[in-house]
Amino acid sequence: MGSGGKYRAAEMALKLVKDGMVLGIGSGTTVEIFLNLLGERIREEELEIYGVPTSYQSYFVAIRNGIKIVDLVEREPELCIDGADQVDVKMNCIKGGGGALTREKIVAKASKKVVIIVDESKLVEKLSMPVPVEVLPFAYGYVSKKIEELGATRVNLRYGSGKVGPVVTDNGNFILDCDFGVLEDEKVEEVEREIKLIAGVVENGIFSNKILDEVIVGRA
Ligand code: A5P
Repeated sequence: MGSGGKYRAAEMALKLVKDGMVLGIGSGTTVEIFLNLLGERIREEELEIYGVPTSYQSYFVAIRNGIKIVDLVEREPELCIDGADQVDVKMNCIKGGGGALTREKIVAKASKKVVIIVDESKLVEKLSMPVPVEVLPFAYGYVSKKIEELGATRVNLRYGSGKVGPVVTDNGNFILDCDFGVLEDEKVEEVEREIKLIAGVVENGIFSNKILDEVIVGRA
């Protein structure tokens, strides 16, 4: 499993893109495959495609593929294409494995249509991975405590590679990975909202099915 399924999902999403479109551009490896395929179409068919990227990662890949970068102030994306880390049977998602959740949620909410592209490995009965929460560095101790009070059994400050110390997001913040165990469908929106209400939280990686229009699953 893995890249074959991601490629298939990206290929299917490509069919939704039309000349002149403004795209919301998510982040991650599946989106990168999508952008590389789109780049081929842009060159071959001489398309004009505009995009609002959600991370430095997708910003660089979009530029390399001939997509014209625009800002949300100028244009409203017609279609947002993004990946996910887990998708449950009700189409709720957890995102933020790559730390780009805040801009991803803003761009998804600002877009007319949101399509998630994943391979089969992302499908689960119920969401269960730790929820990524972007937090102001100043507030991370306080937020950790409040999230434990909400019922998380473990809250980990995310560390990465290539730099000592915690992961710092594209917005200059930290990421807390918060283990709530299994998230029942009826709890998804409530947990999203309660985390969001804690002072110092910038955003969290729960994307309920209300934000999404379609999930494309690529089978290897
Ligand atoms: C980025 O923070 C995430 O939300 C990605 O959309 C998610 O991790 C999916 O990434 P892959 O396509 O690399 O699995």
